[in-house]
Amino acid sequence: MQHEVEARLNYLEDRGQHPVTYTYPPPEGVPARSGRYSKFPVVIHDARAIADDLSLDRQGFVVVNQQSAVGDFYSDREVREVYYPEVEKLVRQSTGAARVLVFDHNVRCRPLAKQHQKGVQEPVKVAHNDYTLKSGPQRVRDLMGADAQELLARRFAVINVWRPICARVEESPLAICDARTIEPGDLVLHDLIYRDRMGEVYSLAYNAAHKWYYFPQMRKNEVMLIKCYDSRPDVARFTAHSAFDDPTSAPDATPRESIEVRTLAFFPPSV
Ligand code: OGA
Ligand code: FE
Repeated sequence: MQHEVEARLNYLEDRGQHPVTYTYPPPEGVPARSGRYSKFPVVIHDARAIADDLSLDRQGFVVVNQQSAVGDFYSDREVREVYYPEVEKLVRQSTGAARVLVFDHNVRCRPLAKQHQKGVQEPVKVAHNDYTLKSGPQRVRDLMGADAQELLARRFAVINVWRPICARVEESPLAICDARTIEPGDLVLHDLIYRDRMGEVYSLAYNAAHKWYYFPQMRKNEVMLIKCYDSRPDVARFTAHSAFDDPTSAPDATPRESIEVRTLAFFPPSV
């Protein structure tokens, strides 16, 4: 059975903006976040219907099966010690990368985030892509030290690895946009200000050509890889995504819980 849903996604209202977000309390008189967003109606298609055709280099996302040995994804220690190596292996196997480095993760659960449970965040209901032409390579320079120069001479990608950590996603699923349907002008620079560094993401401006997908009732062992940057210009590079309010969710649906891990994937020469 195919499930497609009509939903509303938050897009940047227009292309003439340059949003700025502070990740800590900003200086006096400066807003913590700028940028005007509004909801646009979209159809979100069932990615399972095209699962066999999906590729990280075409649409920019795939789903693979992986059973994790992690017992508690809310344990920072267990995630770093057990899950990070699992993800590094998974990304190597799914992409052919020679070297993969996990460098960050987020767990998301709305009720726990509301209770200020340490490190837990809410789903992100704004269409965005996590890295830009500039911030992709910048991550390599920040994280790879003396190796950066050499690594930047070859192909590399930033790949997010997203999975439910509840039995299945009953509400606030993640929508992903076929990277081939995004025009360069739809990707609008958005600065992130950290205490110790500057980051840059893209906010997405609306384009009726965007083709959105999701995996209905996504399950715990289903793991989505999302290409957020590629140094290669002729493949999917920026795969925008957004959590959304699913109009078909039951009012008493169990809150979505998920983890996303950010990875750098370095390819062998000649890919
Ligand atoms: C991501 C992301 C948002 C969410 O994985 O990069 O933006 O709601 N996730 O899970
Ligand atoms: Fe993201």
